[in-house]
Amino acid sequence: MRFLPDFSLAAFNTFGVAAQARRFALVANEHTLIEWCVANAGAEAPFLLGGGSNVLFTRDVEAPVLQLALLGRRVVFDEGGTVLVEAMAGERWHAFVEWTLGLGLSGLENLSLIPGCVGAAPVQNIGAYGVEMAERCAGVIAIDTTDGSVREFSPRECAFGYRDSIFKRGSAALPRDRYAITRVRFRLSRRFTPRLDYGDIRAELDARGVGTPTAQAVAEAVAAIRRRRLPDPAVQGNAGSFFKNPIVAADVAQALRERFGAMPQYPHGGDGREVKLSAAWLIEQVGWKGRGIHPDDAAAVSAQHALVLVNRGGATGGALWALAQAIQHDVAERFGVTLEPEPRIV
Ligand code: FAD
Ligand code: EPU
Repeated sequence: MRFLPDFSLAAFNTFGVAAQARRFALVANEHTLIEWCVANAGAEAPFLLGGGSNVLFTRDVEAPVLQLALLGRRVVFDEGGTVLVEAMAGERWHAFVEWTLGLGLSGLENLSLIPGCVGAAPVQNIGAYGVEMAERCAGVIAIDTTDGSVREFSPRECAFGYRDSIFKRGSAALPRDRYAITRVRFRLSRRFTPRLDYGDIRAELDARGVGTPTAQAVAEAVAAIRRRRLPDPAVQGNAGSFFKNPIVAADVAQALRERFGAMPQYPHGGDGREVKLSAAWLIEQVGWKGRGIHPDDAAAVSAQHALVLVNRGGATGGALWALAQAIQHDVAERFGVTLEPEPRIV
């Protein structure tokens, strides 16, 4: 593996903020990664990077940055009605989804157009339009960066939650970056069962004159909604939703509803005990939508979507983080609700 010194990460994070890696290497081969982990055993832990669409760099990275660029995808096993497929960590998520649809397999269509790479998908259990990758995941294969051993995690072992997994949580027993995810397996279906309940999917299909949708038609509808709703990182730096939607106990939600009548609330978890609030709505209510912070307003809340922080040009990671903290403060003061960042803050 060839390390490049003092490497700019500006093009490797979708916020487009300036940051440097003291050492940076592109990992294009599993064996080389294993060799490096064995040789590096007991030394410093790496920083694992995919497409950089869910990180905010507020400083340079001292740890060796490894960008997982492993490529490849294949059908592992055709089980008849269902098919087990595998993609390597560096595959672009959306291209992988399109590949599965091209094979006539459904299950990932609601997750169309999410930026980033396959290897990061299990980290926060990516989700959109009523589906989470956990529902389709058949296993995660990773290299233990402390000794180079290969380990397979069952979906249960990944302990997936809403925008969460053991890989994201980071605990003393399993610190972040311990496991470099190299391959992810999915069980997909030949028989399409549409999931159309979330948000505007039905309305979008109707507007397109689609009566009985195919998986491909759902993917296209989701992509169209996303293009309308979210700012494009290629045009204005961002990392998608900056905060998770807060989950509160049902009695807290009830009290909030009594005080703030119009507050959007959604059932969470299926047993009626928890309720999901809309972080975007909370942020809009405290007046941050479309607003930037001093001195130059370069770090701002998107005027298009209140949950998306944007780099209007030249914003530093520090300014974006200061903005995030100001929002957290105002939402906590007004609603007593804590907003938790979704991206990894470095
Ligand atoms: P990175 O940003 O590079 O990394 C994210 C985290 O994963 C980091 O902690 C990193 O250390 C770790 N990581 C990356 N690769 C590996 C690996 N191979 N092994 C171990 N750890 C690794 N997310 C959603 O869930 N739903 C959405 O609808 C959604 N929409 C978005 C829309 C926009 C416009 C943007 C910019 C982002 C959106 N996101 C969404 C967030 C983001 O796209 C996802 O979290 C995506 O999975 C991140 O992939 P990445 O390769 O860019 O990861
Ligand atoms: N809303 C506002 N103001 C806004 C935008 C939205 O008040 O400016 C309110 C509206 O009531 C709207 C509600 O928020 O109905 C929900 O908005 P949206 O459907 O856009 O969803 P979201 O909760 O903002 C979540 C995910 C997205 C995912 C979409 C679709 C989180 C943190 N975010 O956003 O994921 O694409 O649903 O499923 O769960 C991401 O994780 O980066 C991401 C983009």
